[in-house]
Amino acid sequence: MKDKFYITTPIYYTNAKPHIGHAYTTIACDVLARWNRLQKKETFFLTGTDEHGAKIQKKAIEEGKDPQEFVDGFAEIFKDLWKQLNISNDGFIRTTSASHKEAVQKVLQTLHDNGSIYKGSYKGLYCVGCEQFKSENELVDGKCPDHGTEPEEMEEECYLMKMNKWQDTLVEKIKSDEFKIQPERYKKEILSFLENQKLEDVSISRKNLAWGIPLPFDTDHTTYVWIDAFLNYLTGIGWDGDVKKVPEFWPAEVEMIGKDILRVHATIWAATLLNLGLELPKSFVVHGHIQSGGKKMSKSLGNVIDPYAMLEKFGADGTRYLLMSGGTFGDDLDITMERMTEKYNADLANGLGNLVSRVIKLSEKMTNEINFNNFVSGDQTFFDTFKFDIILESILEDVKNANKKIEDNKPWELVKNDLIKFNDIMQELMVDVYSISERLIPFLPETAEKIKKSLETKQAEPLFVRIK
Ligand code: MSP
Repeated sequence: MKDKFYITTPIYYTNAKPHIGHAYTTIACDVLARWNRLQKKETFFLTGTDEHGAKIQKKAIEEGKDPQEFVDGFAEIFKDLWKQLNISNDGFIRTTSASHKEAVQKVLQTLHDNGSIYKGSYKGLYCVGCEQFKSENELVDGKCPDHGTEPEEMEEECYLMKMNKWQDTLVEKIKSDEFKIQPERYKKEILSFLENQKLEDVSISRKNLAWGIPLPFDTDHTTYVWIDAFLNYLTGIGWDGDVKKVPEFWPAEVEMIGKDILRVHATIWAATLLNLGLELPKSFVVHGHIQSGGKKMSKSLGNVIDPYAMLEKFGADGTRYLLMSGGTFGDDLDITMERMTEKYNADLANGLGNLVSRVIKLSEKMTNEINFNNFVSGDQTFFDTFKFDIILESILEDVKNANKKIEDNKPWELVKNDLIKFNDIMQELMVDVYSISERLIPFLPETAEKIKKSLETKQAEPLFVRIK
């Protein structure tokens, strides 16, 4: 397979409705997937849901629901949101699907057979919100800093997976960018962890948790939810768990993750692949967290900006635009509905919407044929470094320049006294709008489509209207 591009989101827990952080990652992946399809790469874009584990079982019980019924409901809600946001995923993997469960069991059997898994016990502080053991030094005032809750003391017989022998391999692969972690500061962060802390073997099973995939060699245990979840990146492209038959799309070009789940990916996921003798993903692309009004948002803390409220107010393309232009990728972003409303009005309603409707209206009076040059985008290097905000800023600069061209040249006067100049200016403006629409395709697919249609038919379709 030539020039393939396989990109994944993390799979989202089905213990609550999607929040804006989920929408942010999924939109960023969608932008990259659409861009790569435009570059004629054979693209596969995977997302899905992480449906096992203590956190989900607990929530289902609290709501008096059968866990399967409980997760079925949320999986549909995620799918529906992605549809509403125009997400072009090629696959949607659910960890409770029969094919995923079978593959996970096959993998665990392989790890057991090749000596990577052994029986033991583990004692530690477990944060159900993170579904991870926490060391004392990761806690703040005895609480998990991400969830604000005290982890539970847990001691259990379990199976452990060998980690330590991969420590140097991981450092080497990350240092050389064979296993690339971007942006750079996250590479530094994980290297400093791997160079200073010994990787402990990790518990990969739970004895007293029913809601999980039973270990094939000891059905008193269920599979640790992170191991179950990581394998989605392979089962989601049709892998059945046979290490000799890995799908062509593997290794993934980009696994996009939030900064809070970098360490678990760079250690447990990477070690699982190495223990299986499989290739690591080519890269992890790490984003920061979205905050609102200076405060952290999280599902467990319950202070979230609702993606549905954004959709209702700004529409799919408005939401995509506001999230992708909300700050530097990799850094934490701070968003508020007020600031986003202002930006929507300034950039989309007044800027882009106004430009398109003026140009299309004026173009009715053109007497020459329009000739769209073959458009070549110069955005590749910015996509390579995930500078979504910079690309959008530069597109908006084009919008402003074109609007200025209209004001400076007053085509509504030219049409009366200098038809040749009018036609020339309009030709330029039509090409400007055309190239703006081309650059917008990965970000605002619906709008780009509408603009192109308007250019063809010379009928302006309404794009963005000012909102309060
Ligand atoms: N199920 C695991 C991932 C397994 S991947 C093999 C999980 N799920 S999650 O639903 O809790 O979070 C999914 C993603 O959302 C993570 O990448 C996380 O960083 C991201 N976000 C959670 N809160 C966020 C913000 N406030 N802002 C941006 N992203 C956020 O972790």
